[in-house]
Amino acid sequence: MKAEPLLEFDTIKLNFGGLQVLRDLSFSLWSDEVVALIGPNGAGKTSLFNCICGFYRPQSGEIRWRGRSISRLRPHKIAGLGIARSFQNIELFANLSCLDNLLLGRHLHVKSGLVAALLGTPGWVRDEVRQRRRAEEILELLDLQAFRGEKVSALPYGVQKLIEVARTLTAEPSLLLLDEPTAGLTSEEKTDMLYRLLQLKKEFGLTLLVVEHDLKVVRQLADRVIVLDYGLLIADGTPQEVQNHPSVIEAYLGHQRLV
Ligand SMILES: Nc1ncnc2c1ncn2[C@@H]1O[C@H](COP(=O)(O)OP(=O)(O)O)[C@@H](O)[C@H]1O
Ligand SMILES: [Mg+2]
Repeated sequence: MKAEPLLEFDTIKLNFGGLQVLRDLSFSLWSDEVVALIGPNGAGKTSLFNCICGFYRPQSGEIRWRGRSISRLRPHKIAGLGIARSFQNIELFANLSCLDNLLLGRHLHVKSGLVAALLGTPGWVRDEVRQRRRAEEILELLDLQAFRGEKVSALPYGVQKLIEVARTLTAEPSLLLLDEPTAGLTSEEKTDMLYRLLQLKKEFGLTLLVVEHDLKVVRQLADRVIVLDYGLLIADGTPQEVQNHPSVIEAYLGHQRLV
């Protein structure tokens, strides 16, 4: 018997005015999978992430996490369940150091409140120590130690993309939603990112849903590929299956964007 899905989309409909962004979208993600989400610009990939995280509310349908509806939960509650995301456009605090960006990302897991922090209670100190240890561990794992004290704005784009991924890990998620983690990277940097993602998956037992345009990266990274076109799921299968799917070829050719 197959286990319960980790995340389940049940006929999700999202509209902005007359624009149908997601059209009766249904699919499931299973624990330990690496799923690539592909589709032309405007297909609804980022909007789907926004629905999962509670930033957008679908007009109808349900999103379930381990069998429980999360459609009505606020973003911080959803994050607290173990769902973390990176942004298509890097959303770091440019004037803060690499380490501080990670420590801010961890606020979810700091258990003590403000009073405890002001008083420096033993619980607060324990949390603070744990928080820093986790951040250092992530920096180490991603070979970012050399940049820990550097202001993010002063770092090369490729390093910033990696810090954006590092930030998502600080809240100890079980599902990572990565929105174009390799966009704008050189092919060498893409390969590096690809291996790092696979390493992180192994190290932390993560499930990954990754928006990715480069089919070469998709083939090496993903167990499964979901294809969206104008908010419709047009294919769901292994990279091999999806690549040869007539509607996938058509969707990409139609948009003059071969990946
Ligand atoms: N907040 C919003 N208000 C109005 N339209 C939006 C909003 N967010 C997304 N859209 C529209 O939804 C469609 C899908 O966008 P998006 O999810 O960003 O696509 P993708 O990430 O696949 O490129 C686009 O037509 C976009 O303009
Ligand atoms: Mg997008």
